[in-house]
Order: sequence, then structure tokens, then C-alpha cells
Amino acid sequence: MRANLRLGVVLGVLLLVTLSVALIQCAGKASTKTDSRGAAYADPKSCMQCHKDLSKSYAHTSHFNTSKSLTDHQLPNGLKADSSVFVFNESLKIRVEKQADGQYQTAYWNGKQQRSARTDVVFGAGAKAFTFACWDGDVLKQLPLSYFNEIHNWANSPGFPLQQANFDRAIVSRCLECHSSYAEKRFVKAGSLAVTQEFDQKTLIYGIDCQRCHGPAAQHVTYHQENPNDKQAKFMVRYDTLTRQQKVDVCAVCHSGNDREMQKSTFGFKPGDTLSRYTLPFGNSSNTPDVHGNQANLLALSKCYANSAVMTCTTCHDPHKKEVTGKLSFAQKCITCHKTETHNYCKMAPKLGAAIDTKCIDCHMPAMPSKLITYQATAAKQVSAYYLHTHKIAVYPDQTKQIIAFINQH
Ligand code: HEC
Ligand code: HEC
Ligand code: HEC
Ligand code: HEC
Ligand code: HEC
Ligand code: HEC
Ligand code: HEC
Repeated sequence: MRANLRLGVVLGVLLLVTLSVALIQCAGKASTKTDSRGAAYADPKSCMQCHKDLSKSYAHTSHFNTSKSLTDHQLPNGLKADSSVFVFNESLKIRVEKQADGQYQTAYWNGKQQRSARTDVVFGAGAKAFTFACWDGDVLKQLPLSYFNEIHNWANSPGFPLQQANFDRAIVSRCLECHSSYAEKRFVKAGSLAVTQEFDQKTLIYGIDCQRCHGPAAQHVTYHQENPNDKQAKFMVRYDTLTRQQKVDVCAVCHSGNDREMQKSTFGFKPGDTLSRYTLPFGNSSNTPDVHGNQANLLALSKCYANSAVMTCTTCHDPHKKEVTGKLSFAQKCITCHKTETHNYCKMAPKLGAAIDTKCIDCHMPAMPSKLITYQATAAKQVSAYYLHTHKIAVYPDQTKQIIAFINQH
């Protein structure tokens, strides 16, 4: 009896599976392209149809360009191969060089070629740096050299050894959770103890797309295509209905540190979700958030954030526009809350005169070196610092002194 029941259940499930496969196939024929994230996701190109201006401006952002497959085998931003040789020591060098089928990083030991790998994938839109990776089967491996704008040159990738050329560091899915929109991984045994992470390459969606931030939109697209006169967003999480923490979490999912232990992949994170459900409680290893990648926790330490109910990341940043590094436009944002009339303007204002607006950020959100990322240029003994603006908005007496000295000189 129980066996029969079980058989019945199994058959029923099988029938359902067959039916739903048939349905999916039918639906698949109607839509132009299926998304590797599943049927709930719309063709990423479809947003263009109704959100044209926004989609066009978004295409220029660092988010959209934060990872790419170098299918044309060109380096990004007109970077040239053969422009550099990275010298570890007298015997060991790495050349960035062009070969018949692409751009390579090749290690030479006393002039003899050792290891060589092609730059198949780039990480970073190049605001500060580019890091490269190659496909070794379905394993993605980081290349030993990265390019840094600050020095206009190649240097050893952050955290890489200085005595040897490492071509074997795997890029794991955590990188892609912040630098891409989706990738399916699988674990394979590599030897008796080790396990490697492989990716299903055809599921990989490079760059951060609209649905990575806004969540699945297939129903939204279908509904609005069928109801062109409805100007109210349907089947889409409305940002203005979220709590402040939920709003910040939309960004904090990638901007609250990469030193956290995660419970599960953040690829499934949607607006309205709570980020703390994705991290382990004892996750954050450090009490002083680093300026690299941890804007959310730094901002939370600011009085501006703690003492105002409305401040979020979008108070100062427009997620759909390429970031302009004009400090002046940011000072305008500060002035929405800090004015002479409201008696909470800068006490230094009388002393600073007109210079105040252009230096607001330098004094209150100064650029500071990351403790997590440093790099070493070719044959240099000295380590270069990697600077980012701190999001702990506060009074910094040392920076103030430097800026005042600078203003007085000019
Ligand atoms: C057939 C038209 C149509 C298509 C295609 C479409 N949308 Fe929309 N969308 C709308 C309309 C209409 C609104 C409501 C008016 C507005 O906010 O622009 C809207 C609003 C939105 C909102 C605002 C939600 C809020 O906070 O109020 C988001 C986000 C959004 N769409 C995302 C997307 C994404 C992502 C895609 C592509 C996957 C997409 N839309 C494709 C018609 C469309
Ligand atoms: C899926 C992960 C992810 C999410 C979600 C995300 N970011 Fe980012 N953000 C990144 C990565 C990765 C970079 C580095 C991009 C690059 O330069 O390659 C970045 C860069 C930035 C930059 C620097 C831009 C520049 O031009 O240098 C700003 C500002 C920023 N993010 C703000 C936000 C805000 C605001 C939100 C929420 C509305 C947000 N981010 C959500 C991953 C994310
Ligand atoms: C938790 C999210 C997160 C993870 C994980 C992460 N990054 Fe990033 N990454 C960021 C953010 C945010 C930025 C830009 C702002 C900053 O540095 O704070 C960034 C910046 C970068 C940049 C510089 C981009 C530019 O335009 O200047 C590179 C290159 C980069 N990351 C590569 C990697 C690689 C490779 C990995 C994996 C080994 C990785 N990142 C892991 C969030 C992340
Ligand atoms: C980095 C995360 C992020 C990405 C990527 C992103 N958005 Fe948004 N979007 C937001 C946030 C946050 C808001 C709410 C802004 C606010 O109200 O302060 C928003 C608001 C919107 C709105 C309604 C308000 C407006 O500005 O018109 C639409 C429509 C929209 N997004 C569509 C898109 C489309 C289409 C794409 C891709 C081309 C996209 N978004 C990519 C974060 C993002
Ligand atoms: C949404 C409103 C808002 C915005 C925008 C804002 N602040 Fe504030 N800020 C506040 C509030 C509220 C306080 C706390 C004042 C108090 O407690 O008396 C504060 C405090 C400060 C303080 C004193 C900090 C301390 O530790 O004593 C400084 C400095 C400051 N803000 C600078 C800035 C700068 C610079 C910007 C622009 C980058 C900015 N704020 C943007 C609301 C804001
Ligand atoms: C009070 C204004 C303000 C708020 C709120 C704010 N930022 Fe920023 N952010 C700035 C300024 C100013 C810069 C420096 C821009 C420049 O290079 O001129 C910056 C730079 C960045 C950068 C690039 C880092 C660098 O130094 O190049 C990232 C990433 C970023 N912000 C993310 C965020 C995230 C995520 C949030 C929310 C947790 C947030 N910001 C909230 C003002 C703000
Ligand atoms: C040359 C560096 C410098 C510049 C530029 C500067 N500040 Fe300040 N700011 C300071 C210092 C130092 C203090 C603390 C002064 C004190 O307590 O006597 C301060 C105090 C403040 C406070 C706290 C006021 C209070 O009531 O305690 C706010 C808010 C503030 N600044 C906002 C701004 C804004 C907004 C800008 C740009 C429009 C700006 N500051 C430009 C150095 C600077």
C-alpha cells in the first residue's frame, strides 16, 4: 500500500515535471532569449524598450563595465601589450605580450619561457585598476599582473607573492557575486583532498545588469508590454516603499566588505531582502571597516547617517549615471543638509571663503590608504598604497591642516 502510494507520487511528480518542461519550452519559444538566472528574469536587453535614456546612461557606468569577456582579445581602454616587463628579480620577469590568438602574461626564467596565460576576462571598469583572468578548462584563474591607474603601469596583483609568478590562484564565485550578475558554480575533486570551483561558462552574465540590483523583471516586462497605458510600476519592487536599511542593503550587498563569511550566495539577493540573512553572525572579522569595499559600514559610523533618518547611498550617488569625480557636485549634496541658515554649517566657513566648496570632501571624507590592498611596482622595494575616500564623514584634523596649508600656498 505504502509502496503503491509512493509509486503514485513518483508518477505524479514525473507527469508534472514533463508537463512543466513542455510549458517552459513553449514559453521559451515565445520569448526571444532565456536568461541563465531562470524564467523569472527578462531578457536584459528588454529594459531598453521602455527605459531608454536610463539604459543608455547606465551602459557607461563602472557597475555595468565591472567585468567583461575579452572575446575580441584586446585589452580594455587601449592598454597595450608589450608595453611592460615586470621584473621580480634578475632571473624572473613577466611580460605582457601579444600572441597570435590574444594578449598573454608570460613568465620568463633567465630568458626562458616558463608559464603563459591568456587574458580571457577582465575585472574592474578601470576607475583605479584592472585585474585579469584566464580560463583553464572551466576554472577561472587570476593572472599575476594587474594594471593600476595611479602609477600608469602594471604591478603584481594584490596579495600575490613577490618571489614567484603565480598562475594558479582560482577566482571563486564570491568575486563574481560582486563583479558580475550571475554564474553557476560546481565543485570538483582535484586530488584526494582538494576541491576546485568550476563555472558553467554559458551561465555567466558579465557586468552588473539592471536585474542584479532590481531583481527579476520578466512579469514586469510582460505586464507593461500588455498594458502600455499603465504608468505605475507593476511586478517590480518599488524602491520608495523600502525601509532605510533595506534601501542601503540594495548597495551593501556588495559594499559592506569582502572579509565576511557568507551563509549563501548573494546572487539571489533582491531589493527588500535583509542582508544579514546572507552573512554569518560572526562574519565581519574587523571592527574598523576598510576603505576598500566597505562604504556601508563606514557610513553607518558617521553622525550624518546616525542622526538623520533619510540618508542612504543614493543621497549622494545616482546608480544610473557614470560617476563624476567632481568634488563640487558632492559639496552640493552636503549643503542640502548643512547651511548657514540651519546653523549647522561648517565652523571653518569664515576662514575658508570660496575654497570651501571644492575642498569639502578632502577635509571630511579624505582619501585614505586601504589596509587590505597594496601593490608593488616592478623591481620596487616600496609598496604602493591604494587610496579610497572614507565614508566615515567626520572632522579630520590632520587632513584639515594639510588642506589649509595647500589653500594658503595657492
Ligand atoms: C513595456 C515597458 C517596460 C519594459 C520593457 C520595462 N519596464 Fe520597467 N517600468 C515600466 C513602467 C511604465 C514603469 C513605471 C514608470 C516609471 O517608473 O518609469 C516602470 C518602472 C520601473 C522601475 C521603477 C520601480 C520603482 O522604484 O518605482 C524599475 C526599477 C523598472 N521599471 C525596471 C525595469 C527593468 C529592470 C526592465 C528590464 C528587465 C524593465 N523595467 C522593463 C515599463 C517597462
Ligand atoms: C552586485 C554588486 C554591487 C551592487 C549591488 C552595488 N555595487 Fe557599487 N560597485 C560594485 C563594484 C564591483 C564596483 C567597482 C566597479 C569597477 O570600477 O569595476 C562598484 C563601484 C561603485 C562606485 C564607484 C563608481 C566609480 O565610477 O568608480 C559607486 C559610487 C558605487 N558602486 C555605488 C553603489 C550604490 C549607490 C549602490 C546601490 C544603489 C551600489 N553601488 C550597488 C558592486 C556593486
Ligand atoms: C564583497 C564584494 C566584492 C568582492 C567579493 C570583490 N570585490 Fe572587487 N570591488 C568591489 C567594490 C565595491 C569595488 C570598488 C570600490 C572599492 O574599492 O571600495 C571593487 C574594486 C575592484 C577593482 C578595481 C576596479 C576599478 O575600476 O578600479 C578590481 C580590479 C577588483 N575589485 C577585482 C576583484 C577581484 C579579482 C575579486 C576576487 C578575487 C574581487 N574584486 C572581489 C567589491 C568586491
Ligand atoms: C547599482 C544598482 C542599480 C542598477 C544596476 C540599476 N538600478 Fe535602477 N535604481 C536603483 C536605485 C537604488 C533606485 C532608486 C533611486 C532613488 O529613488 O533614490 C533605482 C531607480 C530606478 C527607476 C525609477 C526611478 C528613476 O530613476 O527613473 C527605474 C525606472 C530604474 N531604476 C530602472 C533601471 C534600469 C532599466 C536599469 C538598467 C539599465 C537599472 N535601473 C539599473 C539601483 C540600480
Ligand atoms: C541627509 C542630511 C545630511 C547630508 C546630506 C550630510 N549630512 Fe553631515 N550631518 C547630518 C546630521 C544630521 C549631522 C549630525 C548633526 C548633529 O548631531 O548635530 C551631521 C554631522 C556632520 C558633521 C559633524 C561630524 C562630527 O563627527 O562631529 C560633519 C563634519 C558633516 N556632517 C559633514 C558633512 C559633509 C561633508 C557632507 C557631504 C559629503 C554631509 N555632511 C552631508 C546630516 C547630513
Ligand atoms: C554624503 C554623501 C555620500 C554618501 C551618503 C555616500 N557616498 Fe559614496 N562617495 C561620496 C564621495 C564624495 C565620494 C568620492 C568621489 C570622488 O572621487 O570624488 C564617494 C565615493 C564612493 C565610491 C568610490 C570610492 C572612491 O574613493 O573612489 C564608492 C564605491 C561609494 N562612494 C559607494 C557608496 C555607497 C555604497 C554608499 C552607501 C552605503 C555611499 N557611497 C554613500 C559621497 C557619498
Ligand atoms: C579645510 C578643511 C575643511 C573644509 C574645506 C570644510 N570643512 Fe567642515 N569642518 C572642518 C573642521 C576642522 C571642523 C571642526 C571645526 C570646529 O569644531 O571648530 C568642521 C566642522 C564641520 C561641521 C560640524 C559643524 C558643527 O556644528 O559642529 C560640518 C557640518 C561641516 N564642517 C561641513 C562642511 C561642509 C558641508 C563643507 C563643504 C561645503 C566643509 N565642511 C568644508 C574642516 C573643513
